[in-house]
Amino acid sequence: MTNIGVFDTGLGGLTVLSKLVESKKANYFYFGDTLRVPYGNRPKDEIFEFSCDIVDFLEKFDIDYYVIACNTISVTCLNLLEEKYKKTFIPITDGGLKAGRSIPGDLLVLATKATVDSHFYRDNIEKVGKKVYEVAGYNLVDLIENNQIESPKMDESLEEYLDLANKIQIPNILLGCTHFPLIKDEIGRKLTYEVNIIDPADYILDKIETNDNDLKIKIFLSQKSKIAESIIQSLIKFDYSLTYVDFV
Ligand code: DGL
Repeated sequence: MTNIGVFDTGLGGLTVLSKLVESKKANYFYFGDTLRVPYGNRPKDEIFEFSCDIVDFLEKFDIDYYVIACNTISVTCLNLLEEKYKKTFIPITDGGLKAGRSIPGDLLVLATKATVDSHFYRDNIEKVGKKVYEVAGYNLVDLIENNQIESPKMDESLEEYLDLANKIQIPNILLGCTHFPLIKDEIGRKLTYEVNIIDPADYILDKIETNDNDLKIKIFLSQKSKIAESIIQSLIKFDYSLTYVDFV
């Protein structure tokens, strides 16, 4: 079977895993670092160090290739990980780029601080002649991981981060963080005009190559989390195993 490692800083990458398992059968090993999430406000060398801890853990499973189900790790560490592990890493940002370039109209990229600071999306999408606005949703990952999706703080934060979109009616919003599909409805409710909300995960499925007939899903998290189990159950419609590991 094809062993595919999928990883994120926490629960967000499960939104990517859910689409992968619907689309392609394989042996999936997911790791979410729920102990140390969020990474998005951390310095680049720390993000790389933590990402290596994750990959070191997954390497035990004889992984054929990886999907980096995290924009923050993709924009800060892709080259470093490829160099260190000499394996294929498919970054979720490939999907974001493909979508951003092909969908008509300007875009707002809502992402973490690290992703916005890299200007990866702006610099690569503006080349095809459209305007890219970037907004860092500083506290959104933290709120999601801490079970505050439906909370006054989430409400207030989204209002602030989507103010620009509402003011100038940007036609597309690219979810530049894999946690954000979990708050897609909350985002939609804050927008006062018709908007196209894009999930990059929909644009990387064709990169996954397998001819497997069976589907196996193993999920590893570095800390028990209040909402992990309900998020996994709502996203993953197949059998899976969930293990909490002490890995650092
Ligand atoms: N899901 C990660 C991303 O796509 C969140 C990063 C974080 O932990 O801040 O960027």
